[in-house]
Amino acid sequence: MSGALQTNPIYKKYVIDDNLRYFKPHSTKIEKTFADEICASLAENSKYINPKFFYDKKGSELFEKICDLSEYYPTRTEIKILKNLKPDLAKYLDKSFRLVELGSGSSTKTRLILDIFAQIQNTIEYFPIDISEILTESSELLQRDYNGLKITGIIDTYEGGLEFIEKYDDKKNLIIFLGSSYGNFNPKEGKIFLKKINSIMKKEDLFLIGLDLVKNKSILENAYDDSQGITAKFNLNVLSRINDELDADFVLNNFKHIAKYNEKDQRVEMYLKSLVNQSVIISKANISLKLKHGELIHTENSHKYKLPQIEKIMKETGFEIKQNWLDVKKYFALTLVSKK
Ligand code: AVJ
Repeated sequence: MSGALQTNPIYKKYVIDDNLRYFKPHSTKIEKTFADEICASLAENSKYINPKFFYDKKGSELFEKICDLSEYYPTRTEIKILKNLKPDLAKYLDKSFRLVELGSGSSTKTRLILDIFAQIQNTIEYFPIDISEILTESSELLQRDYNGLKITGIIDTYEGGLEFIEKYDDKKNLIIFLGSSYGNFNPKEGKIFLKKINSIMKKEDLFLIGLDLVKNKSILENAYDDSQGITAKFNLNVLSRINDELDADFVLNNFKHIAKYNEKDQRVEMYLKSLVNQSVIISKANISLKLKHGELIHTENSHKYKLPQIEKIMKETGFEIKQNWLDVKKYFALTLVSKK
């Protein structure tokens, strides 16, 4: 435990046992951010809600369900690639690496990487970073299956978690960012984020990122508008969350889930469409929101990439590509990079 952290006033430390502990910012930090951000983003002319707010407990559970949908190809495709890259990735690792995961969620895919570590190390150190408390449940499940797994969970934003890692110690990190979560960033924000990762990385650190590739429009739109309506529930759940946490009165039946592929910007866009003229009070964000019939609240962008674009982005943000892995249909890519 580094001295700097023990006195780090931002985080509260929860020690479960010798092998499991969590760091969480004092709650005021998160609550303030949520109310402030919602207040700002819904007061604008083109209203939007940042997709990071999808992931309360219910939202994280719905996302897990999305991952199992037949229409939602990214999860199973990425799992398939991960299973195949095991021997390849092992070559880049040694005893001195720890695993750091951005947006760990349920940690299902993490297991495939932990299996590689387990072949090399007796004691594995794993630092999951996730905004959702689901992290605590998934960590306990992981420890049942992996002996000698030491988990330090950081319940915070990616940026917060990365700064935590930077200040932590000198051990080598394999940072993983799976599931095409990066696709939520617009190109400009994305590059800033990659530069942030690059800036906290040591010379010998590695970074593995999973990105969804451009493909047929109907496959993309079905993946974000499934026949069981799970994605619709996931999208609408952000309004329930605002109701619960910010004391608002959204009526969910007054909204419809929309998912559309924007070919020019190479992204699936999700919206909540107002089905009536309505006004909504969000007490803790101090706003009375007016929505017209047909008006859209933009809730997510999920960008898709072409391989040469991935190579370009990595070059521009100070990385050197070590290796790319794709599935046979070329639906999804995993890219391993180091600092140039
Ligand atoms: C978690 C951002 C990768 O964009 O595919 C899934 C979220 N939204 N279905 C994605 C999501 C609707 C997902 N990411």
